[in-house]
Amino acid sequence: MRKILVIGAAGQIGSELVLELGRRFGDDAVIASDVKDECPEALKDFKYTQIDVLDNKKLRNCVQQEGVTEVYLLAALLSATAEQQPKFAWQLNMDGLFNVLDLAKEGIIKKIFWPSSIAVFGPSTPKNNTPQQTIMEPTTVYGISKQAGEQWCAYYHEKYGVDVRSIRYPGLISHASLPGGGTTDYAVDIFYHAKEHGEYTSFLGEQTALPMMYMEDAIRATIELMEAPGENIQTRTSYNLAGISFTPKDLADAIRKHIPDFGIDYAPDYRQAIAATWPASINDEVAQKEWQWKMKYDLDKMVTTMLENVQPERLFKK
Ligand code: SER
Repeated sequence: MRKILVIGAAGQIGSELVLELGRRFGDDAVIASDVKDECPEALKDFKYTQIDVLDNKKLRNCVQQEGVTEVYLLAALLSATAEQQPKFAWQLNMDGLFNVLDLAKEGIIKKIFWPSSIAVFGPSTPKNNTPQQTIMEPTTVYGISKQAGEQWCAYYHEKYGVDVRSIRYPGLISHASLPGGGTTDYAVDIFYHAKEHGEYTSFLGEQTALPMMYMEDAIRATIELMEAPGENIQTRTSYNLAGISFTPKDLADAIRKHIPDFGIDYAPDYRQAIAATWPASINDEVAQKEWQWKMKYDLDKMVTTMLENVQPERLFKK
């Protein structure tokens, strides 16, 4: 019987992934876990267990007691936060991965999803239409941890036959959950400010193009990758996904189609330097070919959906 453990279930991806896994496979097939003591309200229908992914013993006990067969490991520090705590980010992002990879190496679990990121690329990477395989010299702690993690995933697959699958997520945009500590977070923030105040100050510069993706596409990609036949998955580092590439100015222009007076100004901070090292657009032909990936949300559809659904009161307490 399938039993799925989602680690990092209270985070931006986790909170939506748990709900979708529940819809597809039944709520009883999914266990949500996070370092937080309290189960998030949105996940109250699921079994919840507090786990720090660095607590190997507790993780193992949970996996064995519950008969877990698959793990989605989403606990990590993102790019901006990781720069403030480099050693801890390395420890969390790497040791957490090893704890889960080893469970699969020992045959205790059967399958792993682990997210990588566009942050694996760096200033020497071709900036436009970045290929699946190319120069990767990341300059952030987060990027270094993701690049190393990708190589470890490929190594565990090759040496021990571990079925681990991964996506290099672009920046993720959602109305249901908030991001925390990323360089791409402006593209979520902007919707709350647009709806509440009709204006926004972007911490990235006007012309900074980055690949982004609407959360529904990202969750669908994740589950489609995990459900694809194993022999199709020829890439065991991590897959490029293109998503939608746009600048803060492009996003503001798309918002203005709904809120004509929307105003934006730009005050780039330390995150601009991180964004400047990442690709502007990504080539995902390999994902299209190997597991038939196809995106559904373009910029206008994403903007329309976000403006219809964001609830500014969640961010601006009245
Ligand atoms: N969205 C992430 C970040 O900005 C990139 O994976 O850190």
